[in-house]
Amino acid sequence: MALKIAIGSDHAGFELKEEIKKILKEKGYEFTDFGAKSLDPQDDYPEYGKKVAEAVSSGKYDRGIAICGTGIGISIAANKVPNIRASVAYNTEMAKISRLHNDANVLALGGRVKTQEPISDILTVWLETPFSGDERHKRRINQIKEIEKSKSDVKC
Ligand code: RB5
Repeated sequence: MALKIAIGSDHAGFELKEEIKKILKEKGYEFTDFGAKSLDPQDDYPEYGKKVAEAVSSGKYDRGIAICGTGIGISIAANKVPNIRASVAYNTEMAKISRLHNDANVLALGGRVKTQEPISDILTVWLETPFSGDERHKRRINQIKEIEKSKSDVKC
């Protein structure tokens, strides 16, 4: 079944988001853009990390793509949402491992980061690589879920 993708960025990731949308369109992926809509510096990464992450966590979308200047801030924000495993991937190897080992459901990218490989390659590998399903990786992901559960009643 075709993947449904939620995509979003802050102002620093806006241009890369637009580029990625073109690639997704060319490749025939179904996606929804959760903003930002411009280069306005008021568009902060936590808001868009949350929107993308909640879209995936709700089950309405299979995967998310979240972009800020580095991919770091927006991945930190996305990872605060239950069931989200957001990973930065600056090359195809990181993209592949984040899927095979971590079953990452949000790909975080940086609009201000120069990658040595084309973004379309990183994207394709990330979208097309399945989770390995290996017991050891399942075990570790379950350990992450346990941390999530144990912290759900922590007051901030
Ligand atoms: C915004 O200037 C920048 O700090 C943000 O996009 C991101 O790189 C944070 O991690």
